[in-house]
Amino acid sequence: MELLRLENVTKRFGGLVAVNKVSFTVEKGEAIGIVGPNGSGKTTLYNLINGVYFPDEGRIYFEGQDITELPTHARAPLGMARTFQIPRPFGGATTRENVAVGAMFGHAKASVDEALEIADEYLKLVGIYDKGDVEAARLTPLEKKLMEVARALAMKPKLLLLDEVMAGMNPSDIDQLIELLKRVKEEEDISIVSMVEHLMHAITKFAERVIVMHQGEKLLEGPTMEVLNHPKVVEIYLGKKVV
Ligand SMILES: Nc1ncnc2c1ncn2[C@@H]1O[C@H](COP(=O)(O)OP(=O)(O)O)[C@@H](O)[C@H]1O
Ligand SMILES: [Mg+2]
Repeated sequence: MELLRLENVTKRFGGLVAVNKVSFTVEKGEAIGIVGPNGSGKTTLYNLINGVYFPDEGRIYFEGQDITELPTHARAPLGMARTFQIPRPFGGATTRENVAVGAMFGHAKASVDEALEIADEYLKLVGIYDKGDVEAARLTPLEKKLMEVARALAMKPKLLLLDEVMAGMNPSDIDQLIELLKRVKEEEDISIVSMVEHLMHAITKFAERVIVMHQGEKLLEGPTMEVLNHPKVVEIYLGKKVV
């Protein structure tokens, strides 16, 4: 069953076309990787899916509903959650409170008491339960990333969008996170779209399907290994011109 659909989505910043006529769908329960070099339009694509920006052209559908013009706060309750490339904790609040906010404003629509319980559940899941009472601003970079994942999961999303969540992590932390994501994907039947600049290795372990972005356009889409071994992908990562 189809969860998300982008139809010919274009976003311009002045004269720059950051995302150019991109179309794809995400099925329920699917794990997709979006890869592409720096500046290829990945984060902008997330901002369009998430409602941070509205497209100049094209339409976006979630569970068949046209959400093209819905603001971010109206998309979250439908079942959309994302992490940010640069984690944004509410600095003065504790780690637990940060995660609880996700539960209150996401698809979970929890009360304050419920939200704190849900927060503990996901802090345990990502392995930072012992940091629950610590001010979020004081977490290590890795802990902040894990907190972002916990906050997104606490929203009880149908679609989880991860923006460079594994960047800067060491290989064993990446493996742990991938195992965790695979588990929650199965247990909670969520679709996960994970976007990465490098870390092709991590994407092969995680994604069933890959979309390659290049200069704002969708260059390729298909089964992970097939796409990542494609000569065009090898070329863009070596910085050569793609014809
Ligand atoms: N808010 C913005 N204003 C102007 N240009 C932007 C903005 N956001 C992104 N861009 C430009 O759009 C292009 C795509 O950027 P981005 O989506 O961040 O790529 P990626 O995440 O793949 O690195 C880049 O050329 C970037 O400089
Ligand atoms: Mg980016």
